[in-house]
Amino acid sequence: MLETIYSKYGVESSFVDTSNLENIRKAIRPNTKMVFIETPANPTMKITDLKGAAEIAHQHKLPLVVDNTFASPYLQRPFEHGADIIVHSLTKFLNGHSDVVGGMIVVKDENYYKMIRPTLVSFGGTMDPHQAWLVLRGVRTLGLRVEKSQDNAMKLAQFLRKHPKVLWVTYPGLPDHPQYEIAKKQMDGFGAMIAIGVKNGLEGGKIVMNNVQIFTLAVSLGGVESLIEHPASMTHASVSKEEKIKAGISDELIRIAVGCEDYEDLKDDLDQALNKIP
Ligand SMILES: Cc1ncc(COP(=O)(O)O)c(C=O)c1O
Repeated sequence: MLETIYSKYGVESSFVDTSNLENIRKAIRPNTKMVFIETPANPTMKITDLKGAAEIAHQHKLPLVVDNTFASPYLQRPFEHGADIIVHSLTKFLNGHSDVVGGMIVVKDENYYKMIRPTLVSFGGTMDPHQAWLVLRGVRTLGLRVEKSQDNAMKLAQFLRKHPKVLWVTYPGLPDHPQYEIAKKQMDGFGAMIAIGVKNGLEGGKIVMNNVQIFTLAVSLGGVESLIEHPASMTHASVSKEEKIKAGISDELIRIAVGCEDYEDLKDDLDQALNKIP
């Protein structure tokens, strides 16, 4: 959206891998207005050091904005690490039942509220009362849902890393995740999102998509039900190979959003679908 829509209005942006803080430092230009990060990042599951990113942003008198959707406030509260503004998709963990589309901006300083509110009012992005009620109802079980789904995710990550059709598993809770120590420091748990690479690249990914039965083929996340998606043949199918490589989205990457179902059912489902890869 920043490239396709906001660029028409003169908003410039640089996209960098923020898990390496040096990249943030290098990307700041004289006209930079904010540093915007996402951790864990979609779909690579890379982690950015929140405190380090805040320090860099503040050295340049810029606000640090954090998309906290993948962790949810139950597992990560970026204000505690120096962030100035937090954004959440309410569609995901906070509502938790895949029946609402919404978003939320949380600010520490009232001046940001005064700056943002008139735009929100003018653009009309206002949630209707029924959707707001659904989110309020969903949020009451946030802790229960996240605990169950991240417990499932940890077990699945451990199962998948030993699976013969799986090339690699990226889950922040595995000690070999490149930013495991940072995740441990700034998160209260490792969440319910997993990225894996499967054998046979694009074909392998499609085979898994076409054979799962309990996992639903869909690009959302954070609901009670487990979802699965293959960025190379779905969300990023129209993106050039070079751009995909730059963003860390390889043909073999599958993104798994783990839900609250019985672990054995999830494991058996992935196992049978993976075993269809020749
Ligand atoms: C990290 C992250 N932030 C924000 C969004 C936007 O969510 P919504 O579907 O509510 O527009 C998504 C959607 O996938 C996401 O993954």
